[in-house]
Amino acid sequence: MSNSSTRILTAQPQDIRQAAALLQAGQLVAFPTETVYGLGADARQGEAVAALYAAKGRPSFNPLIAHVHSIEAAKRHVIWTETANKLAEAFWPGPLTLVLPLRDGHDISHLVTAGLETLGVRIPAHPAARALLSALDGPVAAPSANPSGRISPTTAAHVVAGLDGRIAAIVDDGPCGVGVESTIVGLSGETPILLRPGGLAQEDIEAVLGHPLQMRDASDPLTAPGQLLSHYAPRAKVRLNVTTPDPAELYLGFGTMSCDLNLSDSADLVEAAANLFGHLHQLDAMDKPIAVAPIPEYGLGAAINDRLRRAAAPR
Ligand code: TXA
Ligand code: MG
Repeated sequence: MSNSSTRILTAQPQDIRQAAALLQAGQLVAFPTETVYGLGADARQGEAVAALYAAKGRPSFNPLIAHVHSIEAAKRHVIWTETANKLAEAFWPGPLTLVLPLRDGHDISHLVTAGLETLGVRIPAHPAARALLSALDGPVAAPSANPSGRISPTTAAHVVAGLDGRIAAIVDDGPCGVGVESTIVGLSGETPILLRPGGLAQEDIEAVLGHPLQMRDASDPLTAPGQLLSHYAPRAKVRLNVTTPDPAELYLGFGTMSCDLNLSDSADLVEAAANLFGHLHQLDAMDKPIAVAPIPEYGLGAAINDRLRRAAAPR
């Protein structure tokens, strides 16, 4: 059984403040949106986001949606466009996620975007979600609040069934109205592209755009979410499971050792996951081959190794 208890909160103001304080403190809080219950972490805190992957038992790092309370807040993180504005004005708050290029100076953790240069953002319509986002006044990364591979939760009871004891709190405000996840539209290319069908009908989006959405090409790694690591893999050669690095190599360590950058001195996989993409970016900027120390294959280690193998794959 669980060794810690998950608090059930209401949508009353003092409970919402409590939930925001937990997020601020790096804890995980499930909350209702109009689509499904989301499992939230402060999107600026890499370790909180890593803990979120761990709680869900996600086998790999898929990019997450950042939830914000206003268009102004979204603009702090992404490069806003005319089309984004049109769709946001028409459908936000609501079950629509827009994928846009990250902007300089954003403070979103690399783990939220899984190292991509784009970010999915949305303003959820549920009053409890909006109250929570306003109380935190920061971006909340939230996948559906279910263990990986299980069905998305549309009630707090579903969340309890899957995640009790693994997260700090659940804001319970009844069943979700929409019940399927948001529709995701990619706006970082030349034409808007439907990345995932969802709670907002494609036809409604096309009516506002005045033209059809492009369909996602499953074979194109640029549009297939979750498959994108080769896209941001380091330019340099990457070797894995290295215990004795070459003098010419930069050494990415794990655990107590001497190295150029350490994923976690204390061999903590949650900390390592939080550091993974940022450290790879830093080493890549130094333009030398990279050797990576062995990472254990349990817990978040499986996802870390999955990503590292993709980074090391021949290109
Ligand atoms: O309705 C929803 O969208 C719910 C609620 C909680 O907001 N959230 C949700 O999150 O469904 P999740 O993590 O289960 O699904 C997010 C999807 C994934 O398929 C992911 O690959 C895609 O969004 N995604 C996120 N950021 C992306 C990006 N930068 N580029 C392409 N796809 C992205
Ligand atoms: Mg999901």
